[in-house]
Amino acid sequence: MTEGAPRPARREQWRSQTTFVIATIGAAVGLGNVWRFSYVAGENGGATFLLVYVMAILVVGLPLALAESAIGRAGQGDAIASYRAAAREKVWVGAGALGVFGAFLIMCFYLVVAGWALKYLAGALDGRLWDLARADYGGYFDAFIADPWEPVMWQLVMAALATTVVAGGVRHGIERLTRVLTPLLALIVVGLAIHGVSQQGAAAGLNFLFSPDWSLLRSPDIYLAALGQAFFSLSLGMGLYVTYGSYLGRDHRLVGATGAVVAGDTLMAIVAGIAIFPAVFAFGLDPASGPRLVFITLPQVFLEMPAGTLVGALFFFLLAAAALSASISGIEIPTAYLMRRMAWPRRRAALTVGIAVFACGVPASFGFGIWADVQWGHRGILESMDYLVSNVVLPLGGLLTALFVGWRWAGPALRETGLTGTALGAAWIRLLAIVVPLVIVAIFLRATGLL
Ligand code: TRP
Repeated sequence: MTEGAPRPARREQWRSQTTFVIATIGAAVGLGNVWRFSYVAGENGGATFLLVYVMAILVVGLPLALAESAIGRAGQGDAIASYRAAAREKVWVGAGALGVFGAFLIMCFYLVVAGWALKYLAGALDGRLWDLARADYGGYFDAFIADPWEPVMWQLVMAALATTVVAGGVRHGIERLTRVLTPLLALIVVGLAIHGVSQQGAAAGLNFLFSPDWSLLRSPDIYLAALGQAFFSLSLGMGLYVTYGSYLGRDHRLVGATGAVVAGDTLMAIVAGIAIFPAVFAFGLDPASGPRLVFITLPQVFLEMPAGTLVGALFFFLLAAAALSASISGIEIPTAYLMRRMAWPRRRAALTVGIAVFACGVPASFGFGIWADVQWGHRGILESMDYLVSNVVLPLGGLLTALFVGWRWAGPALRETGLTGTALGAAWIRLLAIVVPLVIVAIFLRATGLL
């Protein structure tokens, strides 16, 4: 029990275990699976990256996700309250605080890119994307993000949509939307993948994604990229599983549910890769074009393929809708915290968070135009926020969570997951106590140039 903190009489709950899985997949699947996964995989050798990525998911991602869900379900509170319910020491509660802070910080810049996706969806629907940008997609994109106000407008629309859903509550907002959207996204991504592999010349793209070049395993950067991507894509270390797990009743099985979420998120990324790379290769474009891949390279691909404008519209719908359901979780995590801490009603807490993340994202957007010269070591404002969260805040939160559950809270964690006395449970705790911390520390030292 949390001491001294006011708590609503009855905590909201998911309707069922299935809706928890669907809502959490909806939260985890986002720009990370499509936009970030495709450019990071593209820059890091495709198949070799994919292999390391899947290993990172199994060794670090799944154990951590399960640890976070166990803390949330046991604590029945927001990210900070749940850690506090499990442990008195401040350092562990810090993991929850880093989570709430991390979610907030990600949302600041995430909504900016989500707004870009929405703009491209609108452009694909009304045809302007195809007409105006045809001659020069790069110039079109650069001019759009450099404009001081237009991207901010789209970012505002995204913030407003996500805030409205969160204000509606767990069942009537989050669950109601994700129940429809998540299966729809899965359907679209599978459809796009089938379309992708049926393109002429698709084999080169599939090779790129599925036949590894073993020599690349010697490059340390690939491990850094894979772990960072695993954290980002699964939304690890930022209180997602704690917060969403806290809306789960005691009678549900955590291991199966969390496993399904992790598998679902990973599959969505792989299938998105199957949708994207064959097309990129078939049209002779560069898979390593970085963050601009989906906004500049892909529209050219769509324009040249049969029925491309329809495929393109579906693709940008996928991107915008996935970004929306991920943004919902990013607003929900701090909202749950404020509702308890300030004893505010849900609407007020959600609106406060929505306004705050919108406001702190505006400089990130300006960083591509009027504030382009604000830089820290060649990184603009948005990249610096991303770097700080992905390489510092999230790994640190994940490290604390792994150490906490591995060394201090193993018994309750095993009971909460029903794994007491099982070989699986013993392996899980050992991974958390030793392997996960070592991997995170090694990667962290590498990222900061100390190793
Ligand atoms: N998992 C999300 C994605 O793949 C990214 C993400 C991680 C996120 N943490 C978040 C989004 C917090 C919003 C809030 O796109």
